Amino acid sequence: MTTTQGSTTITADDEAGQAAFDAVIAADSRIEPRDWMPAAYRKTLIRQISQHAHSEIIGMQPEGNWITRAPSLKRKAILMAKVQDEAGHGLYLYSAAQTLGITRDEMTEQLITGRAKYSSIFNYPTPTWADMGAIGWLVDGAAICNQVPLCRASYGPYGRAMVRICKEESFHQRQGFEILLSLMQGTDAQREMAQDAVDRWYWPSLMMFGPPDDASPNSAQSMAWNIKRFSNDDLRQRFVGMLVPQAEVLGVTLPDPNLRWNDETGRWDMSEIDWDEFFEVLAGRGPMNAERLRIRRDAHEDGAWVREAAAAYARKQAARVEDTREVA
Ligand code: 3HC
Repeated sequence: MTTTQGSTTITADDEAGQAAFDAVIAADSRIEPRDWMPAAYRKTLIRQISQHAHSEIIGMQPEGNWITRAPSLKRKAILMAKVQDEAGHGLYLYSAAQTLGITRDEMTEQLITGRAKYSSIFNYPTPTWADMGAIGWLVDGAAICNQVPLCRASYGPYGRAMVRICKEESFHQRQGFEILLSLMQGTDAQREMAQDAVDRWYWPSLMMFGPPDDASPNSAQSMAWNIKRFSNDDLRQRFVGMLVPQAEVLGVTLPDPNLRWNDETGRWDMSEIDWDEFFEVLAGRGPMNAERLRIRRDAHEDGAWVREAAAAYARKQAARVEDTREVA
């Protein structure tokens, strides 16, 4: 039997699928790629997972910038491993998105033509070595805070990818903390460099959690579907609560004179985030947006021969298997 709702035709299969889907969500269980799912659920997952994958890939650039200039062989090896981890995270996430029916080529096209979003945080420059510390401590710290709840996302492939990613992110966060700690135990110039990096990365790291709850169009539905587990503002609060004691250990000052715990509200009071800056960066007008996309586009074009060679190799292997079958 079929019914129509507006321009959408609903079949009996859809009704049964919707009921099964609702039951899985109500039981806080998992939806897998072959399960029926509402078109809007699929669309929001593709949106969030592909944006997340793009963020990991673009996120390689600010740190890649320091690999050749890291101050010791040990620091260089750690940084290389970290940047390589980000590439791996991007690949897990692109694979998870592909299970929803979008191709890798489509996602790449959306990124390099500037139609896809990726995290605002990667559009800021990294002028000093201390930025590697601040990125690890603040950016990876914010990523963990946001991403640990995503390990319980209702879509199986996304949740499982997040488990692996979060393990690596905690190592990243600690290496950033350790870079800042070393600098803070160094000379006056090193301490100043560390504080300056914290001053520059603190506010953008708070923006990573997204717009305030009352300006977040996707949160309510994503939370109802058990994709997101906490609102943007709640995660931001949790993150600040994590940072305050760690900043004390480091000996750095968080650049917000109004930051204090409020016993009455049970929340951190803080200065207003500069949302104009956030929306400018999202619109592609941040300090490094154009450069990040140019580098990504060039890398994609320069890598064309690798993709062609891999495809030729795969064709050759497939033909060989076919020949062996014919002989047998
Ligand atoms: N940067 C860029 N875009 C952002 C953003 C940010 N910091 N915060 C929100 N947005 C975008 C949203 O994607 C959405 O855009 P769209 O509707 O056009 O797709 C719009 O702003 C409105 O925001 P919402 O709050 O309604 O959107 P969401 O419900 O999707 O919440 C989110 C935003 C919290 C970022 C959520 O998508 C999320 O948790 N994503 C997964 C985590 C992720 O992508 N992290 C990116 C950083 S990756 C990283 O940190 C790598 C590590 O190695 C450092």
